[in-house]
Amino acid sequence: MAIISSKKQPQEPNKEPKQRREVAKAPPKENLLQPEAAIDEGKQEESIRPQRFADYIGQKDLKDVLDIAIKAAKSRGEVLDHLLLYGPPGLGKTTMAMILASEMGVNCKITSAPALERPRDIVGLLVNLKPGDVLFIDEIHRLSRMSEEILYPAMEDYRLDITIGKGSSTKTRSLPLSKFTLVGATTRAGALSSPLRDRFGLIQKLRFYEVDELSKIVLRSAQLLQTNITEDGAAEVARRSRGTPRIANRLLKRVRDYAQVKSFQEVNEQVAAEALQLFQVDPCGLDWTDRRMLSVIIEQFNGGPVGLETIAAATGEDTQTIEEVYEPYLMQIGYLSRTTRGRVATPTAYKHLGFKPPNEQLSLLP
Ligand SMILES: Nc1ncnc2c1ncn2[C@@H]1O[C@H](COP(=O)(O)OP(=O)(O)OP(=O)(O)O)[C@@H](O)[C@H]1O
Ligand SMILES: [Mg+2]
Repeated sequence: MAIISSKKQPQEPNKEPKQRREVAKAPPKENLLQPEAAIDEGKQEESIRPQRFADYIGQKDLKDVLDIAIKAAKSRGEVLDHLLLYGPPGLGKTTMAMILASEMGVNCKITSAPALERPRDIVGLLVNLKPGDVLFIDEIHRLSRMSEEILYPAMEDYRLDITIGKGSSTKTRSLPLSKFTLVGATTRAGALSSPLRDRFGLIQKLRFYEVDELSKIVLRSAQLLQTNITEDGAAEVARRSRGTPRIANRLLKRVRDYAQVKSFQEVNEQVAAEALQLFQVDPCGLDWTDRRMLSVIIEQFNGGPVGLETIAAATGEDTQTIEEVYEPYLMQIGYLSRTTRGRVATPTAYKHLGFKPPNEQLSLLP
């Protein structure tokens, strides 16, 4: 994507723009487009979570790599290499870990780094693993240093090093562990310490899904939810799902409710569009914060470049959420570009929000 230059000087990160005093319109309370799972949503997700490789739609590169790794490990009778999955929320990291275990015919123990605060938590998990088991640690970038250090020999040599005693009488004893596969998931690969990252044999990134892939996911979930939806209807839901299966499934449920209450026999493109408009889901899947971010850049900073901190102050979001959740999707659909001097709104973003792109950018339009 072209990086649009602007003569405007970048704003100082902490300097609040004058226009900030204007009170921002409050976002809708329930955000259907947030990619993280809502409280209790996890349980509902279980019924439609794919259980087999064949049902895991898209992520072709990831599947190709894992398919080979599984076949090779199986034929050698070895355990699968440790695997790190990273990417934005809701793209299928947990799902893939569970599928891997079932394809290998082993158990999958699921935990997350914040639950492994004390060293004995992780020790307890490790000693109870059976040969070949998959240990899935979500949010692995949040592991405490002590837990991380216990993991190093466990990952490398399937060994637990325990220190006994204090001062000069300190002794280290090693306990053998079953050979296992660690699958780590994180939304922030950069936040992982490098010794930990280096101990993963496979490091794979999950990418946003294309509309046709999301349409297939919607059609599959609709079947499981016994909802009658046409291909066009599924595509309409897919287009508004920010490249994220979790959002696609959530929107499908809303559309299903709408069709039921309004007594529509099937969900076609029009019914899906009507329902999602009612729930204020933008045709491109932008939510209140995306729109606010883009309009701040366009209206207050002439399209950018503008610093991350300034955008955060103007939208009331924290910088980390903007970087990890909002920006990746806006960049993926070509609405935002990131330059060394700050964020820039692209001409397509101007058009989508109903602004006239400035002349210097107009020439870059397709
Ligand atoms: N490739 C896929 N095919 C079909 N459905 C999928 C796929 N990936 C994810 N899903 C659906 O999306 C939901 C969310 O996926 P999952 O929980 O694996 O995401 P995640 O990457 O672990 O998210 P988080 O970072 O929030 O933990 C699942 O319940 C599943 O139904
Ligand atoms: Mg997960």
